[in-house]
Amino acid sequence: MRMAGKPKRALVTGITGQDGSYLAEFLLNKGYEVHGVIRRASTFNTERIQHIYRDPHDDNCGFFLHYGDLNDATGLRRILHRVKPDEVYNLAAQSHVKVSFEQAEYTADTVATGTLRLFESLRDYIDVSGCQVKIYQAGSSEMFGASPPPQNEDTPFYPRSPYAVSKVAAYWYGVNYREAYGMFIANGILFNHESPRRGETFVTRKITRAASRIKLGLQNELFLGNLAAFRDWGFAGDYVEAMWLMLQHEKPGDYVIATGEAHSVQEFVELVFNLLELNWRDYVKIDPRYFRPSEVDYLLGDSTRARNLLQWKPRVSFEQLVRMMLNHDLEMARQEKTLREAGHKVEPRGVPFG
Ligand code: NAP
Ligand code: GDD
Repeated sequence: MRMAGKPKRALVTGITGQDGSYLAEFLLNKGYEVHGVIRRASTFNTERIQHIYRDPHDDNCGFFLHYGDLNDATGLRRILHRVKPDEVYNLAAQSHVKVSFEQAEYTADTVATGTLRLFESLRDYIDVSGCQVKIYQAGSSEMFGASPPPQNEDTPFYPRSPYAVSKVAAYWYGVNYREAYGMFIANGILFNHESPRRGETFVTRKITRAASRIKLGLQNELFLGNLAAFRDWGFAGDYVEAMWLMLQHEKPGDYVIATGEAHSVQEFVELVFNLLELNWRDYVKIDPRYFRPSEVDYLLGDSTRARNLLQWKPRVSFEQLVRMMLNHDLEMARQEKTLREAGHKVEPRGVPFG
């Protein structure tokens, strides 16, 4: 139990990811002390949290990072005992669906067994310390897979990738640990959510980034896979609020978080290129390398439960989201162009592999 006047303490796995960075900002703004788990990498992987990083030597720092990995139970246990969190947000995952077909075992080890490791560590920590901990588990609309739209909490799961199967396992670990040990575990079933911080190999960011570079003459084609899939795309900043709301509710539950509006990948492409006054057909080429062995055709969420019980609703519309991402990537492309024109040898960030 936290002493009166002390800030609440949150532990976030996956803090270097898109959602982790928005959630950390959100919690810091609410006055939380935020602890994040980061993986050791040979290059910096903290770009998305650079702007909120605080020097741990400063008084009242309020933001701390710990090396850890969902594949390393001992380390997780140590972090829990050191941090003594009130809330844990499990966002860490190998989150790319296509990659999960290439690295199925690794994906299962991180997404399914990794979640189990964390729950087991938490179970023991709660038992030994006597502390209450509220836990958020990052589930996914991919769990619905081939179940027809609209999907809500009662829709059967029909996963279509190793990633989705692993998320279903993690979801059921959550339900089981809730029932078996009385742990407060909320499963969020979040539909796709994007932002200017979205990883560059997810389709939305791949499109806004490439289209911006095409507009400025920095590249002349964009290779994509299946344009016919429909997704319910929202803004990541809105979705992290829903995660927090789930843990403020008196009872743990499972909630679909979605906008209730679906668009095809082709519609996303068309809107982006139209905003840039370009004809997408002149630049977009289909490369079967980006097809998935089994695809999820149509995701459209019904988030009535979250809207009623959590008073959550999305604020950013589809078009606002696209414009936000495009403005960001246009600015990046402009900076790249300026440097090139000044004679600097500039490579685009990363390789377009995904
Ligand atoms: P993301 O940008 O890919 O971030 C994933 C995070 O997990 C990164 O911080 C990554 O660290 C970390 N990570 C990966 N493997 C790990 C491991 N073995 N141990 C510890 N950390 C590890 O994903 P996101 O979009 O923020 O999504 C957050 C969570 O929500 C994920 O669980 C994802 O599956 C789920 N989800 C996302 C969406 C969506 O549309 N964004 C929808 C539904 C559910 P590095 O930075 O070092 O790689
Ligand atoms: N990545 C990618 N790259 N996807 C493409 C491409 C391409 O070049 N071309 C077409 N697509 C299609 C995919 O086949 C899929 O139907 C759709 O675009 C969206 O793909 P992603 O952006 O990779 O996202 P996702 O829907 O597979 O998975 C994301 O959302 C899930 C929630 O539904 C990820 O964030 C998952 O972690 C998350 O759980």
